[in-house]
Amino acid sequence: MHEREQWKSRTGFILAAAGSAVGLGNVWRFPYLAGEHGGGVFLALYLVFVFTIGISILLAELTIGRAAKRQPAGAFRVLGGGRWHAAGYFGVAAAFFVLSFYSVVGGWTLAYIVKAVSGGLDGATAAGAGQTFTTLIADPLKPLAYHGAFMALTIVVVLRGVASGIEATSKLLMPALFILLLVLVGRAVTLPNAGAGLAFYLQPDFQKVTGATVIAALSQAFFSLSVGLGAMITYGSYLSMRESLPKSAAWIAVIDSGVAFLAGLMIFAAVFAFGLDPAAGPGLTFVTLPTIFGQMPGGPLFAVAFFVLLAVAALTSAVSLLEVAVAYLIDEHGVSRSGAALLLGVIIFILGIPSSLSLGVWRDFTLFGLGVMDFMDGATTKVIMPLGSILLSLFAGWVVYPRLARELMHLRSGERIAIPLRVWGIVCKYLGPLGIVWIMAAGLFF
Ligand code: PHE
Repeated sequence: MHEREQWKSRTGFILAAAGSAVGLGNVWRFPYLAGEHGGGVFLALYLVFVFTIGISILLAELTIGRAAKRQPAGAFRVLGGGRWHAAGYFGVAAAFFVLSFYSVVGGWTLAYIVKAVSGGLDGATAAGAGQTFTTLIADPLKPLAYHGAFMALTIVVVLRGVASGIEATSKLLMPALFILLLVLVGRAVTLPNAGAGLAFYLQPDFQKVTGATVIAALSQAFFSLSVGLGAMITYGSYLSMRESLPKSAAWIAVIDSGVAFLAGLMIFAAVFAFGLDPAAGPGLTFVTLPTIFGQMPGGPLFAVAFFVLLAVAALTSAVSLLEVAVAYLIDEHGVSRSGAALLLGVIIFILGIPSSLSLGVWRDFTLFGLGVMDFMDGATTKVIMPLGSILLSLFAGWVVYPRLARELMHLRSGERIAIPLRVWGIVCKYLGPLGIVWIMAAGLFF
């Protein structure tokens, strides 16, 4: 049997895992959901979920992955026996579906790089930027071509393998994205009238909480941390025994929610300064950003740099999604890495086509009253990923907890464990599963 790949260094792993976590979920999805769900309350709930249930499940995924040295389907079987096998398929399938629509939005970021380079965004006004976005997504062919290009890039990185492909990319570009984000936050919060946006974003009005807000915040916490479908199990499987996993999980959660927080700050300060509608939906980031660039010296340069970094952030997340399914074919069916990446990449591209068209020519076609893209997003993030998290949490808490805890304790010599393991066990056993069921029920019935 070939030796399993490993991350080259601890920082490399944390950046790669943070690279999976930080992506379109932070810069595109988080701000538009927050805008639709009352701003500050959404932020508050999201943070609570990230640092309670989310981080516990993240730790469980990493530990399970490292202990089993397998992707989700194999990990559940190796550690839990045949009965648990199906739980892992769930994750593999979810990764597949998420990537199909994720890559469509990834394609938009590529389209925006091209627009920025060719001067198509120069001096954008809010109205002009809105028009540019609507024209792009409604076009029948262009978004598909970009979706194809984005999938092709994802395949190339996965082909190169975990350490050289994924780790090297993340190590260089993640810090760059963070710095650029800080600069843009600086520009956005000093725009005239940015204060109204900051108030909307930073002062939670808890009277606005509804069941839908709670579910959206929970599913965003999972989506953003990349948990619930086994991406972190897969990344954990490439870890050596040296790392302290609680510390790594804490770092990942802090980096991930930190980037989402900054992205929100940038977007809402600008949205209010430009008189845009915070509840405008999935176009929010793509309309707001060019308008900010239109208002700053050197804007066109910043625009190119930002969309390049956003595309890379999206790519490092997409790579982790494809890696789940590719690792499955490699581990369980002995397929070669290149064969698996190509085959799955092409299938996922085809699966994404209806999502892309649903924003333009197939606008009127609905599934359960939702356009295809909304349906794919809702089905995966509101149903499959929370269910995956319940199974994972039950499995970690009831089936493998003693083994996982022992393994984590083993690291204690000399290293401080940031999250007390007992609390973690209780969250996995009770709080996580019950909390998720309760939250989903609340969303259905209130
Ligand atoms: N966390 C990624 C983002 O925020 C998306 C993702 C979800 C990646 C689930 C892997 C698994 O963009």
